[in-house]
Order: sequence, then structure tokens, then C-alpha cells
Amino acid sequence: MEGIDGCGKTTQTDRLCDRLRQQGIAHIRTREPGGTPIGDAIRALLLDPATEMTPAAEVYLYAASRAEHVRKVILPALEQGLVVVCDRYVDASVVYQGYGMAPQGMSPEFVREVNGPAISGLLPDLTVIIDIPVKLAEERLAARSASRGDRIERRGTAFFERVRNGLHDVCAMFPERVISVDGVGTADDVAERVWNAVSQLTQRAGNPPCN
Ligand code: TYD
Repeated sequence: MEGIDGCGKTTQTDRLCDRLRQQGIAHIRTREPGGTPIGDAIRALLLDPATEMTPAAEVYLYAASRAEHVRKVILPALEQGLVVVCDRYVDASVVYQGYGMAPQGMSPEFVREVNGPAISGLLPDLTVIIDIPVKLAEERLAARSASRGDRIERRGTAFFERVRNGLHDVCAMFPERVISVDGVGTADDVAERVWNAVSQLTQRAGNPPCN
């Protein structure tokens, strides 16, 4: 599950997992950065507004968290035959660090290169992007909390416009894997759109339809 901060990704990940549970589909839910003890420690470092780091260090830290997560959580779950629902994965790095931090000298190519060894070729069967305009995301974040947000959330409108453009590019580049869902509307509306995307995947894979 991907999208800019404030897109409703956490709510929609909850809804998706509820639906999988109702359908009796065995799954785990996990997230990045985090998901392992080392990953959680890296997450705290990455999101603390008091942390200062170079853009390249930020790319490597997200990738380090991912390397742990893939080997200690995702692959073992897949080996047990579980569906893995992951709140953010490598596309988040491509768009946040690659596109978002392009003015600081980062690029999608560099971020993909660094992440190659971290993911060892493991890509999702389906990446769902919850797409909403940056302005709406900002309004939602402001309504949710009076604080100025974590280190990444503080980066401002121009940063998030680049991230959103990056998400659109990723969707256009990998249409067989990535679906962009309109995130404007009620949580129920968006949950239905996400479920449609997931159902299409299971049908494509030759599994019994989920609905
Ligand atoms: P997220 O869990 O979506 O935030 P929250 O729990 O506050 O809703 O993600 C944490 C932040 O990390 C978010 O701003 C996106 C950012 N991020 C990256 O910049 N690169 C990455 O590779 C990942 C996984 C997340």
C-alpha cells in the first residue's frame, strides 16, 4: 500500500485486512520503515524531527530497514503461504527519496540501485496507490494533529507534489503490478475501490475470486 502522507493509507490497510479476514484469507500485516527490531530503531531515527542526516544516508537507512524486513518477516510469511499486506515498500523509497529529494541530488535510479540488494528481486504482486491531491492530504494531516508532523511530513507542498508525480510515474511504468486508486471520497468508497483492485489480482492469478 502506497500513497502520500495523509492519503488514508492506514485506514485503507485496516479495511483491506478486515476484508481478507472476513474472506478467510490468511495474511500478515506489516509496515516500513519498521516491522523488525532493527527496522523499528531505524524508523525512530528516520522520523525524529531532531535527526539531521545527508540524503544518501536516508536512502541507505530505509534500504537497511527493508533488507531486514524482507528476510525476517516477508519471505518467511510467503514461505508459509500467507498473503503479505505491507504498508509501504520499495516504491516509497523511489518516490520519497528519488523524486522528492531530487533537488538534493537524489534520483529514482540511484534509489533503485541501492535497494536492489535490499529486496533481492522481491516485488509485490500488487501495489495499490491511494492517490489524492496534495492540498487535500495537507488538510487531513492538519485536522488530525496540531503538531507539525514527523521529519518527513514536515517537508512541505513542493516535496509532496514531487512524490505524487513519482507515484504517477511508477504507475505508468509498471502497469502490470501497480494500480492507482482514487483516494477522494468516503473511507467506504475508497475501500471498495481497493478491494476491486485486489479481487482483479486474485482472478488474474487463477485463484478463486475473493468476492
Ligand atoms: P508511514 O508509516 O506512512 O507514516 P505514518 O505512520 O506517520 O502514517 O511512513 C513513515 C514516513 O516514512 C512517511 O512520511 C513516508 C516515509 N518513507 C520514505 O520516505 N521512504 C520509504 O522508503 C518509506 C518506507 C517511508
